[in-house]
Amino acid sequence: MTPIARPTLMASLCLALATAALAHSGVRNHAVMMRMEAMLSSKKAIERLVAMVKGQSAFDAAAADTAQQALMAHMKATPDLFRDPQSDPKSEALPLIWDTWADFERKSNSAYLAVTALDTLSLEGLRGTLLRVGNTCLDCHQTYRKEKH
Ligand code: HEC
Repeated sequence: MTPIARPTLMASLCLALATAALAHSGVRNHAVMMRMEAMLSSKKAIERLVAMVKGQSAFDAAAADTAQQALMAHMKATPDLFRDPQSDPKSEALPLIWDTWADFERKSNSAYLAVTALDTLSLEGLRGTLLRVGNTCLDCHQTYRKEKH
């Protein structure tokens, strides 16, 4: 990881934390709620890993593996959760998703591959593989989500 990239990852994840809880209240469309829940759960999983990398919590290989499994499940499910062009006034999803669906699927797959490649066996391994995951989250959000973090 480069010294420049790490704070970017941390800052973006902190921003996501600050706004996500609010975004949920008042969502009426169940399909939109489901995809938001999957994203929120992904954020919680990645935060557990970030805390280990930052030294805020002790490295725990079993907990890191659990977080990785959750991330894999959510990123694999992302195309299915979004395929139907569901909307809600509270949704942050941009309609562009369904105009360039193949690219959205490709970005989902990149995120899935990055979480699959997470090395949860050691702190060093985690440190070396977590940034790529954060970048794939951001890459999709920058194109397809109103909030760009
Ligand atoms: C292929 C695209 C894509 C990828 C990859 C992706 N996201 Fe998202 N994410 C979205 C979209 C689109 C929304 C907005 C959904 C909505 O509001 O309807 C979103 C919303 C969110 C939200 C806000 C959920 C809420 O409560 O409203 C969080 C948090 C989030 N993503 C975290 C992540 C994390 C962490 C990753 C990486 C592990 C990730 N996302 C990967 C597309 C993606």
